[in-house]
Amino acid sequence: MKNFVSVNDVTNIDDLVKKALIYKANPFIDKTIGTNKKIGCLFLNPSMRTRLSTQIAAQNLGMEAIIFNVGNEGWMLEFEEEAIMSGTSVEHVKDAAPIFGKYFDILAIRTFPSLKNKEDDYSELYIKQFIKYAGIPVVSLESATLHPLQSFTDIITITEELEKMKRDSSINSGQKPKIVLSWAPHIKPLPQCVANSFAQWVNAWEKADFVITHPEDYELTEEFTKGATINYDQDEALKDADFVYIKNWSTFNDYGKIYESDTKWMLTNKKLELTNNAKVMHCLPVRRNVELSDEILDGPNSIVTLQASNRVWAAQAVLSEILKNNG
Ligand code: CP
Repeated sequence: MKNFVSVNDVTNIDDLVKKALIYKANPFIDKTIGTNKKIGCLFLNPSMRTRLSTQIAAQNLGMEAIIFNVGNEGWMLEFEEEAIMSGTSVEHVKDAAPIFGKYFDILAIRTFPSLKNKEDDYSELYIKQFIKYAGIPVVSLESATLHPLQSFTDIITITEELEKMKRDSSINSGQKPKIVLSWAPHIKPLPQCVANSFAQWVNAWEKADFVITHPEDYELTEEFTKGATINYDQDEALKDADFVYIKNWSTFNDYGKIYESDTKWMLTNKKLELTNNAKVMHCLPVRRNVELSDEILDGPNSIVTLQASNRVWAAQAVLSEILKNNG
């Protein structure tokens, strides 16, 4: 693995899941592979889980993690080639990224979309420019369209839970689980990254019956959803689900809008009765009683804390692969 910006950087998802679960059982077995190495974690946007789990993962491998909140504390960066920098941008990524390349061994970046211009956001210019100019491996901590460390964590979590479900016969061994990605209401337009990325990973994993449910006009791009069944009827989609992943996203076609805030899309225990006693997932942070009800989040079906805790092992597996493949 050279960079980690999408599922396409992973040769074998199950092998990487196994590696993450080995680290979960033995966090310090590779505690020297990062000795004398540094990872620079650049945040152009806020974070809690991604920042802390990546720091812990790096430390478990003996690496030093240096955090730079570029968005608040750094010079405003310019990303366009041949820009005439007479506006608010102070430093071009062409000048900054090679310096990061000299300071660090791995560069990790969080850079959200503007949600103003679809073509700009979906070009993934920011992360591509860092890859082009840093000269060292680049890890996405969530980019304009994808959140691969989150999605890898989600597959790890589903794999773990599936094993438990097979052991207690709540699913037949050999049977594909039904995974439903369900849109949820929110008070402001959010990126499509988590939903895009989850769809991309589940489709690439090829081990589930995958259904996406959302109100009409909330279609995600087929680039990531192709292979999933789309159903506008949430109740129908939830039927017999083994896993329900709750997430809000803003509109893709008429880009970055909210059309629908109907609370009927929030998952409740009543809706959960339609499922096969499904485990409920969310990447967090979550707006309680808007996206997900208290009764679900505080109830036995929620696995959101497990998901968030698995972020460490996902990051550790990815950093370890990069360290091993890049000397
Ligand atoms: N799920 C996730 O990425 O959380 P943070 O935004 O807190 O990093």
